[in-house]
Amino acid sequence: MKERLIALIESALDSLIAAGTLPADAKRPVQIDRTKDKSHGDFATNIALMLAKPAGMKPRDLAEALIAALPADSAVAKVDIAGPGFINFFQAEDFLNSQLDAALADAHLAVPRGAPQTVVVDYSSPNLAKEMHVGHLRSTIIGDAVVRTLEFLGHQVVRQNHVGDWGTQFGMLLAYLDEQKHEESAAELSRELGDLEGFYRAAKQRFDESEDFATRARGLVVKLQAGDADCLKLWREFNDVSLSHCQAVYDRLGVSLTPSDVRGESAYNDDLAQVVADLTAKGLLSEDQGAQCVFMDQFKNKDGDPLPVIVQKADGGYLYATTDLAALRYRAGTLGADRMLYFVDQRQALHFQQMFALAKLAGFVPEATELAHMGFGTMNGPDGRPFKTRDGGTVKLIDLLDEAEQRAYALVSEKSGELDEDELRSIARAVGIGAVKYADLSKNRSSDYIFNFDQMLSFEGNTAPYLLYAYTRVASVFRKAGLAMDAVSGDFQLNDDAEQALAARLVQFGEVLQSVADKGQPHLLCAYLYDVAGLFSSFYEHCPILSIDDPALKQSRLKLAALTARTLKQGMELLGLSPLERM
Ligand code: ARG
Repeated sequence: MKERLIALIESALDSLIAAGTLPADAKRPVQIDRTKDKSHGDFATNIALMLAKPAGMKPRDLAEALIAALPADSAVAKVDIAGPGFINFFQAEDFLNSQLDAALADAHLAVPRGAPQTVVVDYSSPNLAKEMHVGHLRSTIIGDAVVRTLEFLGHQVVRQNHVGDWGTQFGMLLAYLDEQKHEESAAELSRELGDLEGFYRAAKQRFDESEDFATRARGLVVKLQAGDADCLKLWREFNDVSLSHCQAVYDRLGVSLTPSDVRGESAYNDDLAQVVADLTAKGLLSEDQGAQCVFMDQFKNKDGDPLPVIVQKADGGYLYATTDLAALRYRAGTLGADRMLYFVDQRQALHFQQMFALAKLAGFVPEATELAHMGFGTMNGPDGRPFKTRDGGTVKLIDLLDEAEQRAYALVSEKSGELDEDELRSIARAVGIGAVKYADLSKNRSSDYIFNFDQMLSFEGNTAPYLLYAYTRVASVFRKAGLAMDAVSGDFQLNDDAEQALAARLVQFGEVLQSVADKGQPHLLCAYLYDVAGLFSSFYEHCPILSIDDPALKQSRLKLAALTARTLKQGMELLGLSPLERM
């Protein structure tokens, strides 16, 4: 409806410009909002206030002229002027009904699809020298929900898992791997790599205790970077094992990443010299203590000292930034991105601001391409401090997921005793994994949050168990009636306030998805679904469905329930949850 009103207003603006009432340069993006108080209509815009000055008119006069120039539309029942010059729109009642019917009739719930864009999404992107830990959970889960939403809206999404598979730490691992290899069989080696974190720690310990080992490690980095075949083979072996650990986590989480989405730092090795050469040719590089740097005026620290981007160290080595510049160019050029979204820890905000500014300055990325760092806060342990195991180690993702499923199993077997073991297990999986994901998704991504099993597994509040359960309740209405959800028909009759409130919210699904896609904020969808579930509860309380005699009203209510069920289900799927038919 918003889009539709914006189109009407824009057409009115065009006619006023054509008639000379408004100067040709007066056009502004039209802002339209839903009203809080429905006595002021359903939507309002301040466009007349915005344009009054450039038009040299009083806001109310301009509002009147605009209203007179609005094309007729069956969706609009009435248009009013309020206050100093706000324009209020009242939506036609039968229009709501027709929107509901359109949603019910469409597999996509009549969610509008704009012009399709190519969107490159960088998410998960762990460092392969370590086992994936809770810090990677946020990027993976939030990125995946946004990716699913973008695809649902018709965009072409390219997932990029920019894993850290290159760098000095690999020298240490290779030296250790090499050392072990002389003593162990291949099978033993792969078993050893089963505990990557332990492997990494052991390598680090050797590095710290033995000067000899450290020298060998440094030598191996140089050999690796020079393309030595033996080093590359070991390196590949190590990364394969590490990547298969990541993939196991993705599969367990039900995240849509696959091995073909991996394009790590090493993929850009051959482009790095060219990146530096191009920056030189553009006159952007200066040497600072032997290192190649770019100084951009807008990047200074608190004391006004410059914060340069270093693209090549004095010893010739390249850096994280160099790789990211190469990746930006690849994504714009080869992948043809219209938008690039980076789901990466908030603490890298400066890095991305610099990368984006430099990529545009150097012409690696067209001016019109949207570059956005979708930063997120830290996930903290129950004590509010960074997540650690009891003995101070990093918490492994897989251990958390195991515990979530175990706790969910205990919970559901207590609640639904009559289900068989297999069904209990699969419910526990949906609830346990869903709870971990939803706890993350439902928070504003830029804030830190506390990981709390009791809270995320509660059946009350904005949680996965609550939503999953809400959906099974709606589904059970149809099961009880022995009806299929798509077998409902007839006209909507929305008389009760509770019916109207639910209906009005249901038709906002598309708008909500649009803002998730624009802002990269899945918590907006969580809040919406939570709201819909609550509105359904009060509707169900006030408006009996199966027990009423009036067959037409019963059909209308069943239709509303069917649309609620489908909206909840679709919404949960976009968040990466697995809706259950019963629990
Ligand atoms: N590997 C990095 C880390 O764990 C994240 C990479 C994010 N993506 C990027 N293009 N820089 O911190």
